[in-house]
Amino acid sequence: MPAWLKNAVFYEIYPQSFNDTNKDGIGDIQGIIDKLDYVKSLGCNALWINPIYDSPFKDAGYDVRDYKKVAPRYGTNEDLVRLFEEAHKKEIKVLLDLVPGHTSEEHEWFKKSCEYEPNEYYNRYIWTNGAFCGIGGHPYIGGEAERDGCYMLNFFKCQPALNYGVLNITEPWQLPVDHPDVLATREALKDIMRFWLDKGCDGFRVDMADSLVKEDDEVKSATGAIWTDIRGMMDKDYPDAALVSEWCNPQCALKYGFHADFYLDHHGNGLNVLFRDNETEGPDNSYFNKNCDEDPKRFLADYLPRYEGSKDYGYISFITCNHDTPRLTKTMDESELKIAYSFIFTMPGVPFLYYGDEIGMKYLDYVKTKEGGFQRTGSRSPMQWEKNAANYGFSGADADKLYIPVDKDENAPCVDTAEENPDSLIHTVRNIIAIRKEYEDLQADGSFSVAYAKEGKRPFIYKRGDLLVAVNPGLKEETVDRSELENADFIKGNLIYGIGSADIDDQRIVLGPQSFAIWE
Ligand code: GLC
Ligand code: CA
Repeated sequence: MPAWLKNAVFYEIYPQSFNDTNKDGIGDIQGIIDKLDYVKSLGCNALWINPIYDSPFKDAGYDVRDYKKVAPRYGTNEDLVRLFEEAHKKEIKVLLDLVPGHTSEEHEWFKKSCEYEPNEYYNRYIWTNGAFCGIGGHPYIGGEAERDGCYMLNFFKCQPALNYGVLNITEPWQLPVDHPDVLATREALKDIMRFWLDKGCDGFRVDMADSLVKEDDEVKSATGAIWTDIRGMMDKDYPDAALVSEWCNPQCALKYGFHADFYLDHHGNGLNVLFRDNETEGPDNSYFNKNCDEDPKRFLADYLPRYEGSKDYGYISFITCNHDTPRLTKTMDESELKIAYSFIFTMPGVPFLYYGDEIGMKYLDYVKTKEGGFQRTGSRSPMQWEKNAANYGFSGADADKLYIPVDKDENAPCVDTAEENPDSLIHTVRNIIAIRKEYEDLQADGSFSVAYAKEGKRPFIYKRGDLLVAVNPGLKEETVDRSELENADFIKGNLIYGIGSADIDDQRIVLGPQSFAIWE
């Protein structure tokens, strides 16, 4: 386990939209380098950058054409190495995005694998043995290649699935998980990882990590074995590099070798009921909605088994948002976000802040889809740096040349105005990250236990090591008797962080409307 993860707070950068330095309307690597001090000023000490590899960009770069080449629109491989170096000088780690499940249909491997004559790449992707023979239960394409077969898709039409074999062979064209051609896919993946790790990258966020082996892998033992093997390579040759999975099953992902696993927004899961329980008709029952009556029990019912079942292996990663999910501002205001973020950054594991969430950037539901974004595009708009600069300082290009238009609201939050306003969200983000940095109990490994969570009651109180953390997301004052607390006998009651009014004495805890407190 890389020791730096214990104290890591990540900042996710969608490179297209972060900072454009050559006025072509799209963010670039130099733009990220120029903002490293800003990232550091927030307290973040690690980056995850979405794919920056050569690509036809039909899925925003998750359709990789060349894993070993930076897309020219972002710069060169040398620029990326310079980013690693500059980041390291500032003690910031850099994770790239690794896309192991599919490539672009324009990748050289795929072009070779489409050829009539068998060749080295013939089995690199999942093909049937006839153009009229589809792949039961999986999306596929037929009739597009000289080769007589259909190929499986992993996501969009442009993303053919790489071949990691199947557990139980039921069709003549399937290959076992230990077939030499299938092992070659895995070795090719390791080769890509080594290529960037050798250049100074600090690890990877792994795209769709759970689904490499497509058939019969219900308990994920076959997909897991691949990651265990890859973790073996990391432990041996890159012990300080980190692997974070897009899996959302930490009991599985961490046991098989990932260091951290994202808690993603999946309908009805613990993260969803905290922030986004508003996707169906009816009232918004998200715990952090100030106007509802929800208690934290539904969250805990989902979270606790995940935490207990994985804490000995690695970390759960809470996120403020990501490039696939509507920003929380879609339904939450700044007062709610301050409480929600304070919660996120005081939970165990390794948290991720999505660019722009620190200023409460809006989810732009009106922007046209870009590069396969569809409704995700609204969370991918240009970062808002300066109120009075063209395109909010994101780019010197004409507005109609921008990758995605900037927020058209004249009150759009910007970094410079947020910095000037002592009440703004960015200061809450800074303060809570700073407290997390100061108290080891609040970091990845600090213990976690529930002190108070009752049916029909708004407050949520938990212990992190020797600290007591209390949340009241609602608009009413709440009182909790100290005798009702579990696992919290020796709290002195020195307030080390607070939002709103919160008091503790020998008898009770009184939490004012929309309050958050951490006591020693
Ligand atoms: C992941 C990415 C998403 C991408 C998909 C296919 O879910 O986060 O943006 O479109 O995988 O690679
Ligand atoms: Ca640019």
